[in-house]
Amino acid sequence: MTDGLVRIGVLGCGNVGAALVRALHDDAALITQRSGVRLEVARVAVHNLAKERDVALAGGVLTNDAEALVTDPGIDVVVEVIGGIEPARSLILTALKGGKPVVTANKELLANFGQELFETAETAGVDLLFEASVAGGIPLMRPLRESLAGERISRVMGIVNGTTNYVLTRMTEEGSSFAEAVAEAQELGYAERDPTADVEGFDAAAKAAIIASIAFGARVVAGDVYREGITEITPDDIEAARELGYVVKLLAVAEEHDGSVSARVHPAMVPLDHPLASVRGSYNAVFIEGANVGQLMLLGRGAGGGPTASAVLGDLIDAAKNVSAGARGATIGTLVRKRIEPIDETASQFYIALDAADRPGVLAAIANVFGAHGVSIQSMQQSGEGAGARLIFVTHLAREADLTATIHELRDLDVVASVGSVLRVVGGEG
Ligand SMILES: NC(=O)c1ccc[n+]([C@@H]2O[C@H](COP(=O)([O-])OP(=O)(O)OC[C@H]3O[C@@H](n4cnc5c(N)ncnc54)[C@H](OP(=O)(O)O)[C@@H]3O)[C@@H](O)[C@H]2O)c1
Repeated sequence: MTDGLVRIGVLGCGNVGAALVRALHDDAALITQRSGVRLEVARVAVHNLAKERDVALAGGVLTNDAEALVTDPGIDVVVEVIGGIEPARSLILTALKGGKPVVTANKELLANFGQELFETAETAGVDLLFEASVAGGIPLMRPLRESLAGERISRVMGIVNGTTNYVLTRMTEEGSSFAEAVAEAQELGYAERDPTADVEGFDAAAKAAIIASIAFGARVVAGDVYREGITEITPDDIEAARELGYVVKLLAVAEEHDGSVSARVHPAMVPLDHPLASVRGSYNAVFIEGANVGQLMLLGRGAGGGPTASAVLGDLIDAAKNVSAGARGATIGTLVRKRIEPIDETASQFYIALDAADRPGVLAAIANVFGAHGVSIQSMQQSGEGAGARLIFVTHLAREADLTATIHELRDLDVVASVGSVLRVVGGEG
């Protein structure tokens, strides 16, 4: 670093890397005016040197030797936007151990090896910043780490996967089937050819692990997160939700109570008057509840080259200012081992649809089963009559284990022909 010039090494030049390089080029004057540092893209490492790229790079900047980039004494800050575990993990560790601050957008890596990376950064005394790893362009990590550093956060709930939110929005607003909505998302580039990571909730689970780690200062990895995707959601569920005043969303939920942390991803019915219900299409939003701050919500684009590069750039400027000042930014502190609450112990409200006989005594028999397991009914509706009668129950807060036991017993009840959908109801507790 000389005279406020900070030299950047970028690992990866795909969707995010290319958008970042373009922003650094196009907004160079603005960045310098606002931050007092000049950022120079000194090296960009890619996999395939022969690929056509829509970025203006000086001769000799592009390389396929990522290892040489992270050990180059002329590089002051490293940005990792390759993705995946290896070689990203090894490259970041090498950069940190060599005293270089690192900015990464890599949720998969942080959700599985965050602790190792944070400890390495701590030992080396350099910044490791990762705003873009959760909810793309939405500022979330910095608000959690800095603005809310003194806040006792009780719950963070997010719509953190744009693909599934797009799919559920089409199912809700256009009456599309799950398959139709996924095909449409693929055509628009919102979903991968293999949409498993999104629709089965793996992507959201990685983000839930990072959110829980940062919100509660706890060691939470992707494997700690209970996960259900949206593949089982039917147009009937969406319609039943609408009739009851709810909308179905895939939620990432992180909670802390009595020293235990719960992190889970599952579809849920959200009341139409809850702020998360209005988050449509591929948008993301994160709803935070804290002891003093009350409720707040952050909304924006959770993916895409531009929004993600915006978050990377914010971190990059932060790291560059620190390099320039010979300092380092706020650390995330030590992540403490806390008890991870098993899903059986978590409490939610539930929506349950039952096909039952329509004759005297049936309701009492069903209500007895709920009562025997301590699950209290908030509301009940009947649609249809005779053999086609369908009963819809919404419970008060109930433990998952009690609800599961209730469903098992209901299935064995003579008067119950079948138990249809069971969905959690979230956001109406207060
Ligand atoms: N895209 C989004 O909307 C989004 C949103 C939030 C977070 N993120 C995260 O951002 C990161 C990057 O995503 P992306 O969408 O930009 O990925 P991408 O388009 O697939 O780009 C990956 C880049 O990494 C390069 N690369 C692969 N292996 C390499 C190696 N061994 N050495 C050097 N370079 C290598 C590729 O080189 P070639 O170009 O030569 O193939 C490519 O330029 C991921 O961690 C992702 O989870 C992305």
